[in-house]
Amino acid sequence: MPRFTLVTGAGGEMGHSMLEAFAQRGDRAVVAVDLSALQPEQAAHCHTVLQGDVSDPALVQQLEQFDFEEIYHLAALLSTSAEKFPEKAHNVNVNGTMGLLMMARRIGQRTGTPVKFLFPSTIAVYGLPSIAAKAAAGRVTETQFCEPITMYGINKLYCEQLGSYVSDHMGQLTEDMSVKYVDFRGVRFPGLISAFTVPTGGTSDYAPEMIHAVAQGKPYACFVRPDTRIPFMAMPDGVRAIMELADAPATSLTRRMYNIAAFAPSAEEIAAQVMSAYPDAVITYAPHERRQAIVDSWCADANDDAARADWGWKPFYDMDTAFNDYLIPNIANVYAG
Ligand code: SER
Repeated sequence: MPRFTLVTGAGGEMGHSMLEAFAQRGDRAVVAVDLSALQPEQAAHCHTVLQGDVSDPALVQQLEQFDFEEIYHLAALLSTSAEKFPEKAHNVNVNGTMGLLMMARRIGQRTGTPVKFLFPSTIAVYGLPSIAAKAAAGRVTETQFCEPITMYGINKLYCEQLGSYVSDHMGQLTEDMSVKYVDFRGVRFPGLISAFTVPTGGTSDYAPEMIHAVAQGKPYACFVRPDTRIPFMAMPDGVRAIMELADAPATSLTRRMYNIAAFAPSAEEIAAQVMSAYPDAVITYAPHERRQAIVDSWCADANDDAARADWGWKPFYDMDTAFNDYLIPNIANVYAG
């Protein structure tokens, strides 16, 4: 029997890397879903590819025929897009997640094996009240400052709780609670930087946009102030983190949602790193007031002690190695071709 794994948002930045990681492992049958058609080389990694909206019940019905052991629910509208289309964001980010959680529950009931539901959450769940409070807070823990000011942050924070509820409390008045149907787990990602793709619709996008622009010889006007600081991570570490959390024994986990962290540079520290590889780069600052306010509300850094202690999380790339060993050489190849 193949080990069926569902990946939603498979054509997105993270899905792109995840399909390759699963293909390298070669140990599962991936069912991929995306709003758009997958690129042929991505589709080639999959057992089945379905095109559609995760909040469409007809799509969920089609998916339900598979006995999924794991669901990586990556599909979402990110923070900038969600501010532009808040109702749509709520529908995709919340209703879409609820539909898939209920599907996971029914599959768990049918197969007798709890379905692992892997949820990518975000530093956008944090809402620091001021720049001074942000600087004073430093590395925030999972339970601090969970007062998001964006639709995306609110959607993700609620869905973290929804997933935990479905795993631990749903059916509490009517069912035998010793039987589990869903095993919900998630990580709060920092801004992710991929060498191979550029994100769309996020507010941490200034870092990947900067490096990809410069690598193409284009000037870049950064939409946040030079002193703006949030945590970032190289994409391979992000993909590995959520896959390692999936594989961790349930008995070692003390929470359902974990912070993960790697490096937390200011925008000007990112620019300096880019300039050291591309000395002729033209990087300027043109802060966008509203997007700046969103990033200012996110934590300066995340405390990932729980992930380190419970499932041995450790980033492979720090800031220097992320740039020098992963980003710069790979991006050079991408644009050379
Ligand atoms: N990268 C996301 C965004 O900018 C944050 O998790 O929306």
